[in-house]
Amino acid sequence: MADNAAAPWRPFRLSESRAHSALVELSESKASLDVRTCFESDPNRAEVLSRHWKGLLLDFSKQRLDADVLEALLELAREADIQGAIEDLFAGVKINTTEGRAVLHMALRANNTDDFQVDGQSVMPGVLKVRERMLAFAESIRDRHRQGQITDVVNIGIGGSDLGPAMAVKALRRFADGPACHFVSNVDGAHVESVLSRLNPRTTLLVVVSKTFTTQETMANARLAKQWLIQGGGNPATHMAAVSTNLEATGAFGIGPEATFGFEDWVGGRYSMWGPVGLSISIAIGAENFQEFLSGAREVDVHVQEAQPSENLPLLLALLGHWNQQVLGMSSHVVIPYAEDLSRLPAYLQQADMESNGKSITRSGDRVGWSTGSVVWGEPGTNSQHAFFQLLHQGTEIHPVDFLAFVEPTSEHEGMHDMLLANALAQAEALLVGQKPPKGQPHRGFEGNRPSTFWLFDALNPRTLGRLVAMHEHRIFIQGVLWGISSFDQWGVELGKAMANVLLPDVQHAGHVSDLPHDASTSQLLKVIKMAKHPG
Ligand code: F6P
Repeated sequence: MADNAAAPWRPFRLSESRAHSALVELSESKASLDVRTCFESDPNRAEVLSRHWKGLLLDFSKQRLDADVLEALLELAREADIQGAIEDLFAGVKINTTEGRAVLHMALRANNTDDFQVDGQSVMPGVLKVRERMLAFAESIRDRHRQGQITDVVNIGIGGSDLGPAMAVKALRRFADGPACHFVSNVDGAHVESVLSRLNPRTTLLVVVSKTFTTQETMANARLAKQWLIQGGGNPATHMAAVSTNLEATGAFGIGPEATFGFEDWVGGRYSMWGPVGLSISIAIGAENFQEFLSGAREVDVHVQEAQPSENLPLLLALLGHWNQQVLGMSSHVVIPYAEDLSRLPAYLQQADMESNGKSITRSGDRVGWSTGSVVWGEPGTNSQHAFFQLLHQGTEIHPVDFLAFVEPTSEHEGMHDMLLANALAQAEALLVGQKPPKGQPHRGFEGNRPSTFWLFDALNPRTLGRLVAMHEHRIFIQGVLWGISSFDQWGVELGKAMANVLLPDVQHAGHVSDLPHDASTSQLLKVIKMAKHPG
């Protein structure tokens, strides 16, 4: 951990912000803003509160805001010097102050004309070298797949070493012509068992992905899978690969340097799929498609640095979230992809957003006096409509929704795609317009005026997926800057991990009593488990 005395990076207290106070004041006069009336009085509203960018129409005109609010939000961005913060990020300033690290996942998707530096040294030669080696390795696996030698790949990792690759491989199903990729993450043996029991160890490649190569879940799954491979006649030398920053540990695990792909500590786990952590993505879709994925993200990196604030999509998204959450008090953010292939997007965004911004200590080390990370949740449309849209339409709390849809069908079944799009449009419209209840039937009323943003993409492909994810990454970063917190550490996951290690021998051994006394509830639960495990 970095020296605590290190100067905080860009301290910003929302409670002392002039622009934020102005927003709160403005919200009083806008509290009753009825977006339906706004549409009636301003025929240009949809156009004015939408942005077009590279085949994406981002329409936030159904949100509870108007030009005054937008201007006040942009003033907040000026006051918080978001532009300066973005410059620091790209310049490799050690903005992850609690770990003393720069944050440069953008380098992983950069090209050879870009430069990113840490401590005055360019990181690009190393990044490009590893990328080339990794993509060559991915292509060699795809060759072995064509020859029938490798049929399946199992990515073993958790959190950032799982969610991004799992989400992207699924999202890019139609581009995936390599071996089938499977993902094992949970320490529940049922996960690894259910995946491996269907596979042939002689034709399976295991890819162990862990930034630290010490994560309990990943190492337990990796040990088990390695044993399965050897027992089944698979050769670990040709059927295992590793991705990590801890090359000593990958070697000790028995994975040779030719199948090991390293990265640096300036890449956060949840921001890592652009580099070697994306190995399974590149095996699934091939080097060319993977480069497309990187290019899409890189376009957003250029955009976030160069676009005017009022046109800057990650900034606008961050400000919209700020308005809904900090000013209007809506504490959750619903993400509904109208694309089955994007079914893992909400889970991916949960880590990206909640592990980044679920903090209560400011960059200066004191407690925040405002809310931070919102609760992110969602499921694909139309399944979600038949699960929780009841609450979105008629519940007592308002949850702003992001609808994501694609004009080009995501399957061969165009007729079904039409239905999918009609549903997406209908839900967003219904949330907005609502409906008066028929006389005597209040339960059939819809208040309406419920906010949503519509992301309408031309197509779902590697490039658009890269753009979509990078937009969220920068949106999350900007929100962290506004909320005065450090978005790139994750100390909040440490306590539970440490306590699980203390509890493990207590669970395993009948007579074991840990040095640390447990609370009465935990002791009671432990007792029941021990009695069942060790009767008599
Ligand atoms: O959940 C905590 C965390 O540290 C995440 O930030 C990370 O993505 C995950 O664990 C996995 O870590 P590793 O890649 O080191 O195994």
